[in-house]
Amino acid sequence: MNQPLSRFKAVIFDLDGVITDTAHYHYLAWKQLAESQGVHFDHEFNESLKGIDRMGSLDLILASASRQYTPEEKLALADVKNRHYQELISTMSAADLLPGAVAALDTVRAAGLRIGLASVSKNAFTVLGRLGITDKFDYVVDAATIARGKPDPEIFLRAAHELGVAPADCLGVEDAVAGVAAIKAAGMFALGIGHPFVLTEADVVITSLKEFNLAAY
Ligand code: BG6
Ligand code: MG
Repeated sequence: MNQPLSRFKAVIFDLDGVITDTAHYHYLAWKQLAESQGVHFDHEFNESLKGIDRMGSLDLILASASRQYTPEEKLALADVKNRHYQELISTMSAADLLPGAVAALDTVRAAGLRIGLASVSKNAFTVLGRLGITDKFDYVVDAATIARGKPDPEIFLRAAHELGVAPADCLGVEDAVAGVAAIKAAGMFALGIGHPFVLTEADVVITSLKEFNLAAY
């Protein structure tokens, strides 16, 4: 009998920074918003926001502002940023898929594993649609139904539950420190996309999905 290609039963992918590089669009939209409030915003700050949900990111930015904001003001600012972000992603297409992403998804499918998406982005369904890969996933978590963002494991546990797979049988794929922490807190194997000295909690780190090798994990 042939050996199965993988010891896992499901692979749960993050979206931003793993399948497509939306980080630059988030950067542009947050920078404009931050500067409108007199807050300096650079690439280093943007890095620290990777994987953090919208309101959490806004709180981190406004922590450097010179005044306090009411919850209503914060919602309005988050909305301004989101509308700018949506404008930026409105022209995305399959050309924005990161190298190796589709091949990785197809490898997982061909190996008979379930495929989930665990992105805290409330724009994830739009982005998947623009990339043309919605039907490659068995289950996409709706970020609007998640109470606690990464590094809380909630979103990865929800994906595993909906896929009908035990967390220990899942491989999670993430580019953000908070995301890798969420995968580990969920009791899953963490494949990091990025640099080992940044993603120190990941079980294995590769530089991009071009190096994805399901049988090796
Ligand atoms: C994550 C990104 O995937 O989604 C974060 O890494 C972003 O940078 C977060 O803030 C929330 O996205 P959205 O689309 O709901 O504002
Ligand atoms: Mg990410």
